[in-house]
Amino acid sequence: MTQTKAWWKEAVGYQIYPASFMDSNGDGIGDLNGIREKLSYLKQLGIDFIWINPVYSSPFIDNGYDISDYQNILEKFGTMAEFDQLLAEAHLQGIKIIMDLVINHTSDQHEWFIESKKSLDNPYRDYYIWVDGTPENAPNDWQSIFGGSAWAYDEQTKQYYLHVFAKEQPDLNWESEKLKNELFSMIRWWLDKGIDGFRLDAISHVKKDEYSVKATENPFSPFQNVSGIDEHLNELKDVFDDYDIMTVGEASGVSAEEGPEWVGADGYFDMIFEFDHISIWKHEKEGKLDVINLKRALSAWQTALDGKGWNALYMENHDTPRSVSFFGDPEHYWQKSAKAVAMMYFFLQGTPFIYQGQEIGMTNMPFTAIEQIDAVDSRRLYNQLLEEGKSPEEAIDIVADTTRDNSRTPMQWGSEKYAGFSTNEPWLMVNPNYHTLNVEEQENDPSSILSFYKQMIRIRRENQGLIYGSFKEYLAEHDQLYVYERSFTDKNYLIIVNLTSEVAEYSLPNEVDVPWELLLTNQEERVFERVGKLDPYEAKLFVTSKKRN
Ligand code: GLC
Ligand code: CA
Repeated sequence: MTQTKAWWKEAVGYQIYPASFMDSNGDGIGDLNGIREKLSYLKQLGIDFIWINPVYSSPFIDNGYDISDYQNILEKFGTMAEFDQLLAEAHLQGIKIIMDLVINHTSDQHEWFIESKKSLDNPYRDYYIWVDGTPENAPNDWQSIFGGSAWAYDEQTKQYYLHVFAKEQPDLNWESEKLKNELFSMIRWWLDKGIDGFRLDAISHVKKDEYSVKATENPFSPFQNVSGIDEHLNELKDVFDDYDIMTVGEASGVSAEEGPEWVGADGYFDMIFEFDHISIWKHEKEGKLDVINLKRALSAWQTALDGKGWNALYMENHDTPRSVSFFGDPEHYWQKSAKAVAMMYFFLQGTPFIYQGQEIGMTNMPFTAIEQIDAVDSRRLYNQLLEEGKSPEEAIDIVADTTRDNSRTPMQWGSEKYAGFSTNEPWLMVNPNYHTLNVEEQENDPSSILSFYKQMIRIRRENQGLIYGSFKEYLAEHDQLYVYERSFTDKNYLIIVNLTSEVAEYSLPNEVDVPWELLLTNQEERVFERVGKLDPYEAKLFVTSKKRN
């Protein structure tokens, strides 16, 4: 089925984690001016828009996802004037800016919460979710996503407030019209500034269930994609509809079947980040990647939205480990598997997002001590593991594998001290592999991962069929290969990727037997074979203009 055209469908996005991207003033923390310095790098890569993680005023308990003032910039990142300069310069270079919008919760240091806490009859009381309880008895058994009870007791007013994330991140009460209107006018303020859209943080949590509802198999179900959320999201959409922007919602707990409701013609957002394919890494800590499960997750979204909505495509972000470390084999096939993973997701139907450092194949960090880790949830998990009787060595082993800090280490620009990220010791350790794994090393090497990304971006731009073409999967039950075809008016494309470190044999159906021409590969050229073999992590993109059914 055909897809309507839109700039954000043709675009390639790049996610910037500002604290770790580029430090312009040598305090060890990345900043807005650092992003501005690197715009030409992004331009050369072929990026159309950047999504910047939160840069607003914040006590930084959850690295900026705890906002204390939505209309100010955190000093360590810069000033509002510097933000405006970044926006203007990005636009001059043809790069759009998508801001992170965190409206499920604020910081406990936001003036709304400081007021709200003061008394039961404070005018801001109902901006947050307050419920009666005794110090011994929380309102119910709901668990925070970051661990422990989702309720925090306030001695002074003898009530609990709800926090789906850390206790320093109280949830906003979307049932209050006044609160919603404040949020909407703040959103308009940013849009009137001329930004190009939003990534909506934790947006599937804004509706909560009745407090009598118990957490079941999915402990987060009482506050995740709860029925009635459509009313809130439609109001939000009414605000967005006044602007020519792009929106992408972070939508945990939304299934592929529900996808069209969220991003279809009348959907709440242009696209959403789904969690199905990324959540398989949690179940797969040891051992081999479950290729079939990965394909099932990705293909379900492709099929559900084909002709009905649009996907946001991603393999890593600031909350996940590095994709080459999990989906690839950095020890034996670092470069090749990074390219295979890249090709596998990049030509699916949707807008591809690249997370900073992914384009050079950055890997997980070999953390060896809890002092090296910053992420609030990881530190909490570590303490919990110790309480459960694990030794510090066992605990750090578990935490190191899964911590979000794996993807938050400083960007590796060059081989000089601190990887060219800063002139001073960075807030989070640089991965020791920066001596050889860095941008400088890859920039002029046509066989590098970086050059491969540039090629993929160029090829996608030059081939509308890779953007708008429909999706069809082959060999769904093959446990090594992901094979899919994209068909468009006059051209078809075939993507074949081996996602394992073993040779893979295959036999494709007769209908695929047409003269295919090779467009891109991560190893030596090879003609198309309907029945054949692929080397470990071999990845191929073919094109044909031969008409077929
Ligand atoms: C989202 C963000 C994550 C943050 C959480 C709470 O999941 O991606 O980094 O900790 O929301 O705001
Ligand atoms: Ca700085």
